[in-house]
Amino acid sequence: MGVRYSDLAGKVVVITGGSRGIGAETARSFARQGASVAVLGRDAAALDAVAGELRADGAKALGTVADCTDAAALARAAALIGEELGPVDVLAAFAGGDGYPVPTVRETEEHWRSVLDANLTATFLTVGAFLPGLVERGTGSVITMASTAGRLPSGSSAAYAAAKAGVLMYSRHLALELAGQGVRVNAIAPGAVRTERTAAVMPAAVQASVAAAHPLGRLGEPADIAAATLFLASVESSWITGQTLDVSGGRVIV
Ligand SMILES: NC(=O)c1ccc[n+]([C@@H]2O[C@H](COP(=O)([O-])OP(=O)(O)OC[C@H]3O[C@@H](n4cnc5c(N)ncnc54)[C@H](OP(=O)(O)O)[C@@H]3O)[C@@H](O)[C@H]2O)c1
Repeated sequence: MGVRYSDLAGKVVVITGGSRGIGAETARSFARQGASVAVLGRDAAALDAVAGELRADGAKALGTVADCTDAAALARAAALIGEELGPVDVLAAFAGGDGYPVPTVRETEEHWRSVLDANLTATFLTVGAFLPGLVERGTGSVITMASTAGRLPSGSSAAYAAAKAGVLMYSRHLALELAGQGVRVNAIAPGAVRTERTAAVMPAAVQASVAAAHPLGRLGEPADIAAATLFLASVESSWITGQTLDVSGGRVIV
């Protein structure tokens, strides 16, 4: 199982983007620690599959459909999670994506707005749905999802880079606001991670060259991100807030 964080057993963890990829693997990792896990996304069948897998392994788990760009849907999901699993201790706001390259000269207003909405505004709305409960109880850990693309210019669209850089400053700002209220906020900035989606769009030769751009010489795995998330959720990081954890094989040091 790897590291055991005994304080995570019995905690209620919400993971947006939990229907696949990094979020689904993070959900499995929390469930293995004995946490109760709610996975959010838009694909009901995929959410059911992940939650069903966790329950089959003995965890308490719930799949909830919510579009993270829709505040009302998030409020409904938060209410359901509260009823089914209890008060939330950990929020991993991971939903997002669409980092595909777009030359800025060809960027459209519609696409720009949709990428900002899907990554930055969705993070704000997701945190907004769960924050009152965390603040009321005076405890909790929020982990947001940035990207290496938000740390340095890369091959993504400028919209995605700006959105993820926005997630980083939003997270630092929120961390300072909440530092006296028992709630920690940290961001994870992954390099290129091998998921079903990235494997489908990246031919093997491209994967090899992207891997070579990371000093540790390989792509990330969803489990690399899940491991960092468990640490930031656990008591072992209790004196860490407002930080960006680059989980990127050294990508940001070159
Ligand atoms: N993979 C990488 O290389 C990489 C690198 C850096 C950062 N990231 C970030 O890590 C996060 C997860 O990426 P991934 O690679 O695991 O992607 P993925 O496999 O494409 O999964 C994306 C997840 O986000 C959910 N999602 C997207 N938009 C949503 C919305 N509006 N409302 C609710 N759920 C939404 C999807 O849910 P449904 O499919 O159910 O709608 C899905 O669960 C994203 O924020 C991404 O930007 C990924």
